[in-house]
Amino acid sequence: MKKIFAANWKLFKSPKETREFFAQFKELAGKTTGEVVFFPSAISLEAASESLKGSTIKFGAQNAYFQAQGAFTGENSAQVVKDLGGSYILIGHSERRSIFGEGDAWVADKVAFVQGLGLTPMLCIGETLQERESAKTFRVLETQLNLGLAKADKTKPVVVAYEPVWAIGTGKVATPEQVAETHTDVYSILKALGFESAPILYGGSVKPDNAAGLIKQPHVNGFLVGGASLEAKSFSEIASV
Ligand code: PGA
Repeated sequence: MKKIFAANWKLFKSPKETREFFAQFKELAGKTTGEVVFFPSAISLEAASESLKGSTIKFGAQNAYFQAQGAFTGENSAQVVKDLGGSYILIGHSERRSIFGEGDAWVADKVAFVQGLGLTPMLCIGETLQERESAKTFRVLETQLNLGLAKADKTKPVVVAYEPVWAIGTGKVATPEQVAETHTDVYSILKALGFESAPILYGGSVKPDNAAGLIKQPHVNGFLVGGASLEAKSFSEIASV
């Protein structure tokens, strides 16, 4: 399976900074071995679209509503992302779930809507530290996948990003052993649901110095990278493992 290296820029980088980043990144990207995807903030999507014209590098939005247009103040349209040439939508990131109160029902509607448009949803799942310490990780991931994929089409692409909440932005990366064990669990859950061909990405404090050890683990099909994706050099190193 082709590896996927995805960059989640969160609320960083203006359109100008986005253009400057890609001018530098495209020089370095020749070394990458897989598919590279960027998730800029919504206001910088057009700058990404213009910068990536004619390139094999993909982009998409960090969130989108499950309707193409209408009276939905403050939301993003996946249809517009598609019109700009985007191909992915990140769905259910832990910051969307914990800060913006997004629940599994919305996640399921978004996954189905995005698939219906012909874009690829990247569904994020992950347990909190408290859930891990009380041995609930498997149950949490199983519930998030069951509910998040409840309306998904098995014949259309979907990517899953496993991101332990305690490893996001904390510098506390999961160990290769934890990643191996949890990705094997995620694969078995996906298989039971009929989504065994979905690539499974790891996310949470991925850096150039830990990426090589993590990518070797079973059922790790790439990464979703936050902090280390903001700099062209560090993200190109991660995308070259
Ligand atoms: P991080 O973020 O790499 O900064 O931990 C990952 C993410 O939130 O997707």
